[in-house]
Amino acid sequence: MIKRTPLRTLATVTAFRTRTYIRAFHAETKVIPQAHYNVVFDIDGVLIKGKQVLPQTHRALSLLKANNVPYIFLTNGGGLKETDKAAQLSKKIGAHIAPEQLILSHSPMRALAQKYEHKNVLVVGGNGSDCRQVAEYYGLKHVVTPEEVHVAFPYVCPSSAIEAREIPLPEKYLQNVNRPVEAIMVFHDSVDWGRDLQVMLDALVSVDGYLNTVKSQAELHTTKQSVPLYFSNSDLVWSNEHPNPRFAQGTFRTCLERIYQDMTGHKLEYTLFGKPMRPTYQYAESVLNNLAPIHIGPNGMPKPRTVYAIGDNPYADIAGANAYGWKSVLVRTGVFKPEGDENHHIHPATTVVDDVEDAVRWIISTEIRKEHPF
Ligand code: G3P
Ligand code: MG
Repeated sequence: MIKRTPLRTLATVTAFRTRTYIRAFHAETKVIPQAHYNVVFDIDGVLIKGKQVLPQTHRALSLLKANNVPYIFLTNGGGLKETDKAAQLSKKIGAHIAPEQLILSHSPMRALAQKYEHKNVLVVGGNGSDCRQVAEYYGLKHVVTPEEVHVAFPYVCPSSAIEAREIPLPEKYLQNVNRPVEAIMVFHDSVDWGRDLQVMLDALVSVDGYLNTVKSQAELHTTKQSVPLYFSNSDLVWSNEHPNPRFAQGTFRTCLERIYQDMTGHKLEYTLFGKPMRPTYQYAESVLNNLAPIHIGPNGMPKPRTVYAIGDNPYADIAGANAYGWKSVLVRTGVFKPEGDENHHIHPATTVVDDVEDAVRWIISTEIRKEHPF
């Protein structure tokens, strides 16, 4: 365990090294130059645990604000529009988070809207019609959800209860249930695995995407899956208030893969988004570029930007950051629960710390040492 550096000590150390940093603590009203390094926060297991905001979250954000360090949030969570999620998080955390600072697992899937704008897309995951609204917001014109399929064809999922829905679905939501499915996009964790697996399987083994059809046995074994499939998140587990990590979208995908392979003899084909996939990091980099333009050095050349990603999941946050050339800081408040001081054996982080506040303190002091070595 690292020893937490008290705020005053950090400021005192800094006083020997950089005037900029002193200003951060002693002249809050003065404008201090924007730092040339950036911080990327994971959310679940780092800032929050289910409904609880971790106690270090405020101090971590305040430290970055005081030092004018640009930061963004990169989560494998989702299920809402970025504007709605930013408002929800701001309220929960008690600090303003702009939609421009927030990347959800499905945010990079916005790029798919051009290709699928006029196609009928089965959108899976999340509560009620929330993910339908995300898909429409991204520009998809024809959306259908497993819930809508179930309402239209009650025998589709005999073990799932449509009675659970209190508000009836608007009639217009049912207009695509008879159109062939042309792609499947999983935007968030499923809230009804049995129903969603069944409806997705139906589409994957259908004749040309028509839901109430199925290929012959011979066709199933000799032809490819009927529709392309996209997942927004590959996490096997995530961290909430429960003492041990909980199933995430990756576990749901594993079930689908196994069922599809047993039924057809073929491997399920799909495209993954979210951490640790490269397109998500390219998307995050473009968000950072908009938020915090690259600094130009005294030689007129752009100064290389250092990005620090703070996360709790070695397979998502750390693997992704390391592969993209960012520095990675692994916290012990979420999925990663080591016995002692060790790093993760498969995806070792640049450093391991107790929590998000320690992570931010480590980042700031690392940057000070870089700028002003003794
Ligand atoms: O489903 C997993 C997701 O909720 C994890 O979110 O913020 O830890 O990337 P995050
Ligand atoms: Mg996390």
